[in-house]
Amino acid sequence: MTLSGKDLQKKNAGYKAGEYIKDGMTLGLGTGSTAYYAILKAGELVKEGYKLEAVATSNETARIARENGIEVLDLNDVEHIDLAIDGVDEIDGAFNAIKGGGGALFREKIVATLADEVIWIMDEGKPVDAIGEFPLPVEILVYGHKHTLKELADLGLNPVLRERDGKTFVTDNGNYIADLNLSAPLDIENVAKKLAGVVGILETGLFLNLCNRTVIGTEDGAKVIENPNKKN
Ligand code: A5P
Repeated sequence: MTLSGKDLQKKNAGYKAGEYIKDGMTLGLGTGSTAYYAILKAGELVKEGYKLEAVATSNETARIARENGIEVLDLNDVEHIDLAIDGVDEIDGAFNAIKGGGGALFREKIVATLADEVIWIMDEGKPVDAIGEFPLPVEILVYGHKHTLKELADLGLNPVLRERDGKTFVTDNGNYIADLNLSAPLDIENVAKKLAGVVGILETGLFLNLCNRTVIGTEDGAKVIENPNKKN
């Protein structure tokens, strides 16, 4: 199939990130339509003879990785992660990102914080001047979720309980997602502080300065931007 537009940008980003994969690595594989291409690339490397193992940030990613010949392990069975490659929903110039559009934010954050190196891959629509336009996903506990949603609403965070196919969306961890409809520029510190005070929240889709570099796919190739100030 001939790809064009965003699909081609995603593929170019995923394949470019694949150039950072070295033989013998343990990978953290992200979730979503861009991470998909990095998984395909990793699968091709395995077929070329690379010894790779991976942890997956979602059941869907685990399935795609195995289908492509990549050995997928439980996170508890690896000692460390060399390189995590994942997509983003929005990212600003200071490498602050919103993630979780695919609902995998909790595992994505665990993998990103454990990995020695993190690459966010994306199409040209993802970099923004200021994050906040994309609804901020937060994973919430099912127990008492109506009260959690009310608390979020009382804080002025405009939560909407995520649905898929007319049913409440359930994460791979068995939890719900509240999408917070905010606006750009997001007052990141203020929102993070409010969220930290809500007990029913398990994790947020705010990924602040967590990547070593971004790879932005274009229709001709990909642009790599190094993050000089990555938090470790
Ligand atoms: C999954 O939960 C997300 O964090 C994805 O990484 C993010 O939504 C980007 O997805 P796409 O690459 O499909 O746009």
